[in-house]
Amino acid sequence: MLACADVAKTYATERGPVEAVKGVDLTIDRGNFAAIIGRSGSGKSSLLAMVGGLSRPSRGSVSIDNTDIWRLSDNQLAQFRNRHMGFVFQFASLLPTLRIIDNVALPALLGRARVPADAYEAATQLLNQFGIGGYADAFPAEISAGEQRRAVIARALINNPVILLADEPTSDLDEETEREIMDHFHAINRSRGMTLVMVTHNLSLAEQADQVVHIAEGRLAA
Ligand SMILES: Nc1ncnc2c1ncn2[C@@H]1O[C@H](COP(=O)(O)OP(=O)(O)OP(=O)(O)O)[C@@H](O)[C@H]1O
Ligand SMILES: [Mg+2]
Repeated sequence: MLACADVAKTYATERGPVEAVKGVDLTIDRGNFAAIIGRSGSGKSSLLAMVGGLSRPSRGSVSIDNTDIWRLSDNQLAQFRNRHMGFVFQFASLLPTLRIIDNVALPALLGRARVPADAYEAATQLLNQFGIGGYADAFPAEISAGEQRRAVIARALINNPVILLADEPTSDLDEETEREIMDHFHAINRSRGMTLVMVTHNLSLAEQADQVVHIAEGRLAA
């Protein structure tokens, strides 16, 4: 499903190059839940951004469903991401001028020719599942950080991705909400075989994973 070969990322900074990821080989099977753990600054988000087609590796390759994603053109990559991947970033980002329902429906409206009514119906269902159906018409600034986070997760799932990449998706949520969201991920994981790659600092969440990927100083650690 997912294969990284010698993936590395070096950032050019004013203080000189920063080697955030130093050559990672990794495979994750379809339908698996992989937890990425490691200390702050170890390169987890950098790795996830390369896997997600958001940040170009300095070397190495990333294949998803046998597509070598960094060989696609920018347009092809954007389309591939929209159709096949869902993202929950470390720092939640909803478009501030759109209502919650519009934010969640947006990837469906931008993607495959879905009828707007269907996109909105799917968005409404997801909002209800995540307990924020009452905020459909609110703007992001009008709801709490945890409610925004749930909307971001709903948005990530609207196009039924085959792979969901999530960077500490439940870090600012209470335990009960966290459990609900994890249950939801597991349910989609079982029913549709969605692959889940999740960065987490929560070791009890990592214990639920099929595969634990430990990163230390930009490399896989035992
Ligand atoms: N855009 C950037 N430019 C320069 N250096 C960066 C950039 N992004 C990350 N880094 C550096 O790369 C290293 C890895 O950062 P990264 O964000 O991948 O860590 P992380 O494991 O996700 O940490 P955290 O758990 O705190 O989120 C760090 O030393 C960081 O300072
Ligand atoms: Mg990070």
